[in-house]
Amino acid sequence: MDKLTKTSLNFYLSEYLADLKRAGVKDLAFDSQIAPPDDSAPSPAKPVASRATSYRAVPQSSQTAQALPPRSTAAERAARAETPTRREVPRAPNLAPTLAPPLANDDPELAERVDQLKTIASEVARCQLCAELVANRTQTVFGSGDPRARLLFLGEGPGAEEDLRGEPFVGRSGKLLTDMIEKGMGIPRSSVFICNVVRCRPPGNRNPTDDEAEACRPFLDATFNVVKPQFVCCLGSIAATNLLGVKTSLGSLRGVVHDYRGAKVVCTYHPAYLLRNPGAKKDAWLDLQLLMREMGLETPRK
Ligand code: URA
Repeated sequence: MDKLTKTSLNFYLSEYLADLKRAGVKDLAFDSQIAPPDDSAPSPAKPVASRATSYRAVPQSSQTAQALPPRSTAAERAARAETPTRREVPRAPNLAPTLAPPLANDDPELAERVDQLKTIASEVARCQLCAELVANRTQTVFGSGDPRARLLFLGEGPGAEEDLRGEPFVGRSGKLLTDMIEKGMGIPRSSVFICNVVRCRPPGNRNPTDDEAEACRPFLDATFNVVKPQFVCCLGSIAATNLLGVKTSLGSLRGVVHDYRGAKVVCTYHPAYLLRNPGAKKDAWLDLQLLMREMGLETPRK
């Protein structure tokens, strides 16, 4: 997604949230912060110019030489070398087009998806189905990311930090998930969509019950219908078993590409599990590489 599109999405969403606040709705769930482009990522490879063009010494005409600033002396160059200068931060590669076809800023389809997500988010915010979750939540956590993402990450339910901030995966697990996406897969977090099986925090970080997952399922299905991801990564066994409607262990679901309504699904460990069991990170990396191969993304050579 280009910067303009992101800016306008942020605008739509913040306007919408302001409307809801004015209307007195307290549980605002939809992520208003569609993340800005990651300026810390490396710049995309430039097309390689032919050697003849790149390295041939071109004699300067006297006119060109006059237009150039006077050459600095060795002493000036040495002094500059000691003065730390702010290095130009390379622009983030615009990887969004690898995930979703680039659409114009005023693209009606994008605007429609934003509207649909806003509608679902406000239904989530009003939901009162699970008494214990409703009584304990600060706010609902709808989801965040690109409404046209090719890849959707599914977690289990918001934790304490997510409950406070209204965004999925923003605590310690979220930091690891961001690294898995950006450093591991090499794509910006803002180019994927992230949501959970349940949209309210289960108190004390317990697992969501089957009833809670079932009550929240229409919101997951509705999110799917709008984002239409072609790939899903289930984080942990709650996400995997709920999405796929199976009762098997995560171990038996890993390493296989599943199908959910035409989307290819890969299951891996939940980042919280990886924080407790760092030894499992290498296996999670294998899962991500399987997903990357399915998505046609380049995996690092051994
Ligand atoms: N764990 C989850 O499963 N989801 C979140 O959003 C955060 C932590």
